[in-house]
Amino acid sequence: METNRLSQRMNQALNAQVTLEAFSAQVYLMLSSWADDAKLDGISAFLIKHSQEERVHMAKIMEYIQERGGKVTIEAIPKPSPEPTNTKECFEMVLQQEIENSEAIYRLVDLSMSERDWATFNFLQWLVAEQREEEKLALTLLDKVNLAGGKDASHASIYELNKDIGETGQEFPTADEENPLL
Ligand SMILES: [Fe+2]
Ligand SMILES: [Fe+2]
Repeated sequence: METNRLSQRMNQALNAQVTLEAFSAQVYLMLSSWADDAKLDGISAFLIKHSQEERVHMAKIMEYIQERGGKVTIEAIPKPSPEPTNTKECFEMVLQQEIENSEAIYRLVDLSMSERDWATFNFLQWLVAEQREEEKLALTLLDKVNLAGGKDASHASIYELNKDIGETGQEFPTADEENPLL
């Protein structure tokens, strides 16, 4: 008997979202690496933590596909775009990434409605809420960057911004915090 409770189309669409979350994690890793190179240790730490959040989203979607009797297929992750050249560009890329991710999730919601797949519709509400929070955070950070002077920010205000963003709380600890012996 058929044990996959997801349509073939929905299974593929959710699988594509797994890859997109992995891609988001790569984008955050790229941005974190740029920030480290620019000696922005606080911003780099924030971005690497956020990369971890994207991996958690990825894992949750994988679990959902499997719970419904579907099959996860791990695909190649595209290369992120070139590194930013300043802090403003960095946080514009963060907001852009979150908006694109939200749009992809909205398309999944549309599909779940058209298929009357209410279990998936219900699961996706968690992701919709999560994206709302992530867009809010990205927008708040971009506001701070602009307040500090945007791409023409002085060294003094970049110094403060780096410290402030480094202290921004997030749900997921870094590898160092999880493995204090490392
Ligand atoms: Fe995500
Ligand atoms: Fe995100």
